[in-house]
Amino acid sequence: MELLIKETAKLIKQSKFTIAFTGAGISVESGVPPFRGEHGLWNKYDPKVLDLGYFNENGAECWHYIREIFYDFFANAKPNKAHEVLAEMEKHKLLNAVITQNIDNLHYEAGSLTVYEFHGNSKKLKCRKCGRIHEAAEIDFNTIPPRCIDDGEILKPDFIFFGEGIPQDSYANSFEAAEAAEVCLIIGSTGEVTPASFVPRTAKQQGATIIEINPEETLFTRQITDIHLKGKASEVLEKLAAHLF
Ligand code: APR
Repeated sequence: MELLIKETAKLIKQSKFTIAFTGAGISVESGVPPFRGEHGLWNKYDPKVLDLGYFNENGAECWHYIREIFYDFFANAKPNKAHEVLAEMEKHKLLNAVITQNIDNLHYEAGSLTVYEFHGNSKKLKCRKCGRIHEAAEIDFNTIPPRCIDDGEILKPDFIFFGEGIPQDSYANSFEAAEAAEVCLIIGSTGEVTPASFVPRTAKQQGATIIEINPEETLFTRQITDIHLKGKASEVLEKLAAHLF
């Protein structure tokens, strides 16, 4: 592992454009459960609660689970060492952008500046009648479903539900960065969700070196990964940081 870490550090230092593509795994050590695998949320909850069509018909029912998953579990999460090292790499101009599938806001809270949130962010809720954005921090989640203060419409978290399109800016910025990348770190993602998983695949097609950090093998490992740093995100990135700054 030490040799692979040293090689990774050398590649990152030589790279003119480096991106990090992150999934639920990077936030597991912050207490945010992953979606799949042994302790995955989708083992406990029916994904239909995040299906846009079902939410439109059953908003109040869905909010019962949405609150439990995203506003109880996520609410107290803090960035971990992995988030912090990526923010530090950006400060040292060793990382150009973070492209995340996560909606937990932890990259920003760790100090990252260039973050493309491919699936949106749970810290904002939107009224789909008047468009007003509400800050989750100002919502009393003891009363659900939360409603718009202007017109009483049930609010929707400002992240992507199944069956919903990717935010245009995040989509365009993510693929632009993937096309420019010489090194792409993949941290804690199974690669099972599209179109997000096309981001590192696009980087690969453009000639980028793919470095994956995950304690398990994934679809990416079997298909595009050049270096697999088998371990937990915070432990591996802490070791890598020792060779970067
Ligand atoms: N460090 C690094 N990776 C980890 C860690 C850790 N400490 N713990 C778990 N992992 C890995 C798992 O081995 C798995 O490969 O993180 C991955 C988590 O996979 P998923 O839960 O499928 O997460 P992700 O790929 O981000 O899912 C994508 O699915 O449900 C949707 O919109 C949701 O953004 C989410 C998307």
